[in-house]
Amino acid sequence: MSDNADKAPDTSDGKFPLFDYRLRQGGREWSVLHTGAVLTDEDETRAIVRKTNRLPYGLALWPSAIAPAHEIADRAAEFRGRGVLELGAGTGLPGIVAASLGARVVQTDRDELVIQLCRHNGERNGVRSVEYRLADWTAWGDDRRRAWIIGSDILYGEALHPHLHRIFASNLANGGGVALGPAPGHECPPVGGTGSGRLGDHHEQVGRVGGGPASRRRL
Ligand SMILES: C[S@@+](CC[C@H](N)C(=O)[O-])C[C@H]1O[C@@H](n2cnc3c(N)ncnc32)[C@H](O)[C@@H]1O
Repeated sequence: MSDNADKAPDTSDGKFPLFDYRLRQGGREWSVLHTGAVLTDEDETRAIVRKTNRLPYGLALWPSAIAPAHEIADRAAEFRGRGVLELGAGTGLPGIVAASLGARVVQTDRDELVIQLCRHNGERNGVRSVEYRLADWTAWGDDRRRAWIIGSDILYGEALHPHLHRIFASNLANGGGVALGPAPGHECPPVGGTGSGRLGDHHEQVGRVGGGPASRRRL
């Protein structure tokens, strides 16, 4: 990760330093700007404290984003031309990879500043077809079904699981897949456990971070 402070977007919150993370796979490279990677408990505390101070924690790079990004890059044929909904996109790495492989991607987050950086990152990677949308899981108004729902580090709040369940139930196409980068210590809510009905059998929690061996767990 290299210092990229000169590329900080000018926002109503002022300029803030950003760092560059580069994902390389299969001869390709993607890069996202972020306010800092959350690698340790101390980083996490800092990101959460920053939120209360000034910056939303979605601007940080959560390592869980790296796992689905690798996975998507590995499975290009399954994403090309398919509809993809990204929840809690943050800095946007998985959706950017999917879009660059030819998926039709909608990246969503509830935070305006986060969506701004997500868009900025998309533009830096030359993905032009992505739709960026401010959307809150607790007031979801979209029932368009897509082949994939992706997300990373979005399972940390158990109170939000029923909302996520409803979105999986209403937005996933028949036979579609959910690929989630897990938040450490936070499992995906059990499929069908909240009265939202079964979601099909193609659900994976993607557990690979960085370049390590892939592990997938059926949910
Ligand atoms: C821990 S961050 C993960 C960001 C990014 N996916 C990553 O892995 O780097 C969680 C993200 O979910 C978003 N989020 C949290 N609650 C949400 C809600 N109720 N509706 C929509 N987005 C939400 C936050 O704004 C934040 O960007």
